Amino acid sequence: MALKVSIIGAGAVGATLAQRVLESGIADVVLLDIAKNLACGKSLDLMDAAPIAGHERHITGTDDYRDIKDSSIVVITAGFTRKPGMAREDLIAENARIVRAVAVNIKAYSPGAITIVVTNPLDVMTYLAHKVIGSTREKVFGMAGILDGSRFIQLVSDELKVSRSSIATYMLGSHGDTMVPVLSQTRVSGKPIKELIPEDRLDGIIKRTCGRGAEIVNLLGTGSAYYSPSIAIFKMIDAVLNDRREALVVSSYLEGEYGLRDICIGVPCRIGKNGIEEIIELNLSSEERESFRKSAQTIKSSIELL
Ligand code: APR
Repeated sequence: MALKVSIIGAGAVGATLAQRVLESGIADVVLLDIAKNLACGKSLDLMDAAPIAGHERHITGTDDYRDIKDSSIVVITAGFTRKPGMAREDLIAENARIVRAVAVNIKAYSPGAITIVVTNPLDVMTYLAHKVIGSTREKVFGMAGILDGSRFIQLVSDELKVSRSSIATYMLGSHGDTMVPVLSQTRVSGKPIKELIPEDRLDGIIKRTCGRGAEIVNLLGTGSAYYSPSIAIFKMIDAVLNDRREALVVSSYLEGEYGLRDICIGVPCRIGKNGIEEIIELNLSSEERESFRKSAQTIKSSIELL
């Protein structure tokens, strides 16, 4: 049976991800949206690109959840985006209603799939999907830390005029203003970042990283980022389907790790064919531990609103 990735939500993130998956040749795609014509129209457009792109993959546009049966991975991108001036948390009520409905259908039609959550506010929606789908925590996790880390690396590489690949970092915690850059373990060509960038410049970079999503929302006027989110999701899909066992920061349900329980939050995980193969507990500095605890507190407060 051909590998199948189902994407719920054929908007900006979902459709861009569909293109990435198809053109990489990694799997067939089902693109599902409550707006059937949107999913069908984008699917036809993507199929028409296939002969030129040179792949033999197939995409189905649909609004029928029976089509997601036997997916290896289901990605939830359905939901509203922020408008200028909004925080991700302002989307809780509307997006919880959508994610709950989507998760019920995943449980009914593709319960064995690995589910990757993308809808914001990310950590809260991952928690909700995990609870509703009811599969093991290894199989339901959220995309944020890879994107936040990528944004930080991009800004650091601009600052230092070095290649992006020479920068290694982890961005933990909530996908929001309280995200936690693990500076104690951030290296540029092996050197600690704090030795290379003065504190005030580094603070500015961290602030801009935290606000990068909002910066893009303000510039776009309508909608939010999708090129960088979709490549971050693709990285996770690739890690699963190719069993890469790569350490990636994902929003994961914790059961005592980092001293936390019953919460989804960004931590480094080894991602492979079974989903989360291992949760990696980093040695954080006391300052980082405190920031992580505060970040967890903001997620907990939001979870209580569900
Ligand atoms: N079932 C299926 N699809 C739905 C549902 C539902 N119940 N409700 C909404 N959708 C679809 C919409 O019809 C729309 O096509 O979700 C799509 C969302 O697309 P966009 O508005 O373009 O949003 P996008 O930029 O893709 O972002 C989606 O990901 O990064 C997050 O914050 C972002 O929460 C947002 C989500």
